[in-house]
Amino acid sequence: MGKYKVAVLVGSLRKQSINRKLALALEKLAGDKADFQYLEIGDIPLYDQDRDGDYPAQGTRLKQQIRAADAVLFVTPEYNRSIPGVLKNAIDTASRPYGDSAFAGKPAAVIGASVGAIGTALAQQHLRNVLSYLDVAVLPQPEAFIHFSDGLVADDGSVANEGTRKFLQGFVDAFVAWIGKQKG
Ligand SMILES: Cc1cc2nc3c(=O)[nH]c(=O)nc-3n(C[C@H](O)[C@H](O)[C@H](O)COP(=O)(O)O)c2cc1C
Repeated sequence: MGKYKVAVLVGSLRKQSINRKLALALEKLAGDKADFQYLEIGDIPLYDQDRDGDYPAQGTRLKQQIRAADAVLFVTPEYNRSIPGVLKNAIDTASRPYGDSAFAGKPAAVIGASVGAIGTALAQQHLRNVLSYLDVAVLPQPEAFIHFSDGLVADDGSVANEGTRKFLQGFVDAFVAWIGKQKG
């Protein structure tokens, strides 16, 4: 099994994002099986179909980064029971112009952390709908709804709680196996 290039889309822009910390934890647990690249999505202009013939450079960059990756990992908060706008904008941008989506056939996985009790379940369900339409091969199981409490993941991505660490390790292992299966 080689080292897979994983493009990571974090659906939160804030510096202390618990989802960014969760992504860091997954990166650590992936060890030498995956190389995580965190993609910038905060600077992508709002998608405007009038610019399909003159694509914004940030959109072209995002598409190139996704195409260059073996897989995409979505780590997202839930905003008002759905996907944050910044993430939806990045997905819309990378999926266009029509017929030139960067996503088609890509293996992917979805995970998210929330301070709320249902831990991003609704946002992830919406995200799965969107990705299904875009022909993204999303890891079906395990689902991972992380209820984030203070200190669950340290700033360096380490996970002190053994149960959580084991669960996240299982998620990463399943994702790596899924990438291998999809790539054949
Ligand atoms: C605009 C907004 C809407 C939110 N809506 C939800 C929600 O629907 N469900 C939920 O569990 N948490 C919700 N939250 C709380 C987030 O779970 C919490 O702010 C979390 O820390 C965001 O993730 P981040 O730390 O990665 O930025 C919302 C937060 C914001 C700012």
